[in-house]
Amino acid sequence: MLVFLVLSYVASSSDPTEPAILLKFKSFLSNDSALDNWTNATAPCNGTHNLWAGLLCNGDANVYGLALTNMGLLGIIDIDTLMDLSALKTVSFMNNSFEGPLPSVNKLSSLTSVYLSHNKFNGEIPDNFFVGMNSLKKIYLDGNEFTGKIPKSLADLTKIVEMDIRGNQFSGKLPNFLQNPNAWKTLNVSYNRLEGRIPAGLRISNPSAFVGNPDLCGKPLAACKSLKKKVLLIIAIVVISVAAILFFIVVCLKRRRSAQSKQVTRVQNKLGANHDTGAIEVELAAEEENNNFKNNAERGGGELYFLKDINFELEELLRAPAEVLGSGSFGSSYKAGLLSGSMVVKRFKEMNQVRKDDFYDHMRRLGRLSHPNLLPLVAFYYRKEEKLLVHDFVANGSLASHLHAKREPGQPGLNWPTRLMIIKGVARGLAYLYKEFPGLTLPHGHLKSSNVLLDHNFNPLLVEYALIPLVNTDHAQKFMVAFKSPEFYHNERSSKKTDVWSLGILIFEMLTGKFPANYLQPGKRANADLAAWVNSVVREEWTGEVFDKDMKGTTNGEGEMLKMLKIGMCCCESSVERRWDWREVVDKIEELKERDGDEDYSSYASDGDVYSSRAISEDDFSFSVNA
Ligand SMILES: *[C@@H]1O[C@H](CO)[C@@H](O)[C@H](O)[C@H]1NC(C)=O
Ligand SMILES: *[C@@H]1O[C@H](CO)[C@@H](O)[C@H](O)[C@H]1NC(C)=O
Ligand SMILES: *[C@@H]1O[C@H](CO)[C@@H](O)[C@H](O)[C@H]1NC(C)=O
Ligand SMILES: *[C@@H]1O[C@H](CO)[C@@H](O)[C@H](O)[C@H]1NC(C)=O
Ligand SMILES: *[C@@H]1O[C@H](CO)[C@@H](O)[C@H](O)[C@H]1NC(C)=O
Ligand SMILES: *[C@@H]1O[C@H](CO)[C@@H](O)[C@H](O)[C@H]1NC(C)=O
Repeated sequence: MLVFLVLSYVASSSDPTEPAILLKFKSFLSNDSALDNWTNATAPCNGTHNLWAGLLCNGDANVYGLALTNMGLLGIIDIDTLMDLSALKTVSFMNNSFEGPLPSVNKLSSLTSVYLSHNKFNGEIPDNFFVGMNSLKKIYLDGNEFTGKIPKSLADLTKIVEMDIRGNQFSGKLPNFLQNPNAWKTLNVSYNRLEGRIPAGLRISNPSAFVGNPDLCGKPLAACKSLKKKVLLIIAIVVISVAAILFFIVVCLKRRRSAQSKQVTRVQNKLGANHDTGAIEVELAAEEENNNFKNNAERGGGELYFLKDINFELEELLRAPAEVLGSGSFGSSYKAGLLSGSMVVKRFKEMNQVRKDDFYDHMRRLGRLSHPNLLPLVAFYYRKEEKLLVHDFVANGSLASHLHAKREPGQPGLNWPTRLMIIKGVARGLAYLYKEFPGLTLPHGHLKSSNVLLDHNFNPLLVEYALIPLVNTDHAQKFMVAFKSPEFYHNERSSKKTDVWSLGILIFEMLTGKFPANYLQPGKRANADLAAWVNSVVREEWTGEVFDKDMKGTTNGEGEMLKMLKIGMCCCESSVERRWDWREVVDKIEELKERDGDEDYSSYASDGDVYSSRAISEDDFSFSVNA
């Protein structure tokens, strides 16, 4: 006890006091006659009144700001010493004679404002310099000699509303600021050597904020395109329209010929091409919509915002050769061939109940996601009536198409190791969403095989995730997978375990090769059918026969497949309390192997008693479809 007291006394008495910190900080400065009254004779603060020059004091008589402006100061700004000032929120060293690289103010991560204007600071600022300065609202670097690019990490700060970097030698493109342009209180990047297009988030209406950079272009400065390109654009639009009309005629003729009995085959064929098989409409309608959209977008209103380090023009997107991929429950999607690669553009009409700010905020959160099993969102386009989400085109198609589309004769189906790898990837992607969106009840909300794309290595990539907060409620409840869950059917409620239920359906679909066709039905009724579908799967004899015949060539995997089937059952448990939590599901899936292990599982592959499995019987998973 005594030792403890002595130790804690030593520890606290060695914490430097505010006067000692400030005097140490001052000792690194020179030509500091303006700080002559920084002495032990008085305390730095008396309440909110500062007794030492250039301090800002808060109600607790602590220093929250350094306002050392116009003092002729030289020497070193010793940030490491300032780190001991626990209340420090703002620093100003404006209009002194400091030089050298930008001081490491990023170590003071709770700063809200940094004023370094009118010194002789120079050199490049590292690209990641501002990472972690999440409180920063104001940054003034104007009137120095900084060179190099404006750090990308500065563009990523969400709270920043004042930025003045005029009169330096910054060069290169402006990074991709995503702020709402209206949020800026001060913005001035004039008189540097910046070039290229002004990013969306900096498009304030006052062009004087950008003067003195001869190579900057785009709103509010002159457009980046030459007149010649504009003419080309108009020609391109005319060509597209003509092509569309021809397409229209061809489709009309074809449709007239095709009898209604062919409907089923059509839907099946589409499974091969579409990323979304929900509520499939006719291609014709999609093409029409697509052109309507192009016309509307041409007439103006919206803007294209980029979430990743990639840039193309709205015009480029509009005039790119477009191929309609299909029309899903939200609207049409089409593939656009751009110079930078093919993009998929999905059109959403049922997202007009969210405020613009909220929409942007959510998009920014989606833009920050990064996981090997999520297809990243590249850009979005906002108009009140319609939104576009843009992501990379994935050539290998969707899991649904691999499972259900007709294959060429001799072409093998997905084998078990591949399916296991896909399920693991899906589970990891889902787990990542759960971690990134702890506040969302439905971190995915629309998990189904047509929303799992496969890259060339069959690595799964989730799409249409985390959209529930944006989609109009009635539409979501009619079409989105989460609302076909038992809990929504019975209580009109979803839960943190609802996405787990969708994962269970996906697992069944992959193991059996059967398509839960009820997904295609809008509305709640689908649920009852889906429950029956689950029932039909789990009622099968517990032998290898339940498994998709296409998985043949799989040796010694049946024990593991059975375990996966049981995991699926625990996910599809209709009682939410008894259903597994996502962490448990992910752990159990990760444990599975391609082949049966050394343990003797062959017994229950043949005896059919699922409930005796050692791996699972420890947990309560009694299963019922109709709660
Ligand atoms: C101020 O006082 C502290 C002790 O309270 C002492 O360590 C320090 O040397 C003094 N500084 C000056 C400049 O007198
Ligand atoms: C501190 O402020 C109080 C109230 O304003 C005043 O009475 C006192 O003299 C001040 N102390 C010093 C050291 O200036
Ligand atoms: C020290 O100087 C500052 C600014 O000149 C002044 O506000 C403060 O009152 C001075 N402190 C004392 C103790 O004279
Ligand atoms: C030193 O400070 C004084 C004012 O305090 C200023 O006039 C002078 O220019 C400064 N010297 C240098 C080298 O900056
Ligand atoms: C900077 O300091 C000089 C003299 O020290 C003064 O004349 C000038 O007005 C100051 N500029 C600003 C912007 O405060
Ligand atoms: C930006 O700075 C330049 C140069 O000082 C000035 O002429 C212009 O008015 C400023 N514009 C804005 C919007 O602050």
